[in-house]
Amino acid sequence: MSKQRLEGKVAIVTGAASGIGAEAVKIFVENGAFVVIADINDELGHQLATSIGLDKVSYHHCDVREEKQVEEIVAFTLERYGTLDIMFSNAGNAGPLSSILEFNLNEFDNTMAVNIRGAAATIKHASRVMVERKIRGSIICTASVAGFVGRCAGHDYTASKHGLIGLVRSACGELGAYGIRVNSISPYAVATPLACRALDMVPSEVEAVGLDYANLQGITLKAAHIAETALFLASDESAYISGHNLVVDGGFSVINRCLPSIKKQ
Ligand SMILES: NC(=O)c1ccc[n+]([C@@H]2O[C@H](COP(=O)([O-])OP(=O)(O)OC[C@H]3O[C@@H](n4cnc5c(N)ncnc54)[C@H](O)[C@@H]3O)[C@@H](O)[C@H]2O)c1
Repeated sequence: MSKQRLEGKVAIVTGAASGIGAEAVKIFVENGAFVVIADINDELGHQLATSIGLDKVSYHHCDVREEKQVEEIVAFTLERYGTLDIMFSNAGNAGPLSSILEFNLNEFDNTMAVNIRGAAATIKHASRVMVERKIRGSIICTASVAGFVGRCAGHDYTASKHGLIGLVRSACGELGAYGIRVNSISPYAVATPLACRALDMVPSEVEAVGLDYANLQGITLKAAHIAETALFLASDESAYISGHNLVVDGGFSVINRCLPSIKKQ
């Protein structure tokens, strides 16, 4: 198989300065794409762009909570690269791990503004351009196992990712008529800054906890595994896949631990 699975394609990755987004930028570029790095962390975003090479990527500040900024980054991408084939809507906020009894609705609004409103703005402005220009594009959103299982994360994060999977399915239903695919990826725990901050742990501790609760043993889930999944959904290898929530959790969400391991007597 050719290594250049996104030859000449143009992508925007939001939340691209760090973690899963940064890995996706690298792997998209390795596979022949031009990528716009969208984030609010300007220092990390510029560093990443420079380290990859400004002939392949550009950094552009974009707070996905602000629709105008999302519209602007799409316009910037068209001006710079002439088209938009892939929108990887990945920016996310972990929100607090507080009790429902102490629920802070201002924090809830912020988590929703990044995880749902932000994704809605990216889907809206990417698909507008794709429809207008008859581009059979691929839109991918980073959801989570917390998007369909309770008690994997905080209440507001869980609600936002459940909503995001619904939004992806709904948008897929409208955009299929234009040949545009819309999918989500639902990762299990990855030791990125977001997870480390949420759990107040260093990366090795997050990975150890992740392994304790994981189904699949002998492997640690890394941001690069999720980036590989995004590459698959961005490429023509997934040409007929739309409305799918691709779960990358090693089986975590489909097993029930109430039965002890079954041994032949
Ligand atoms: N790490 C995990 O365990 C895990 C599991 C499931 C899903 N996810 C999801 O993966 C996605 C990426 O997170 P990550 O784990 O790589 O964390 P990360 O902290 O490494 O990266 C998140 C990036 O999003 C950016 N960001 C935050 N708010 C933004 C905004 N308003 N506008 C634009 N950019 C913004 C941050 O600056 C950061 O660069 C998120 O949607 C997250 O919910 C993560």
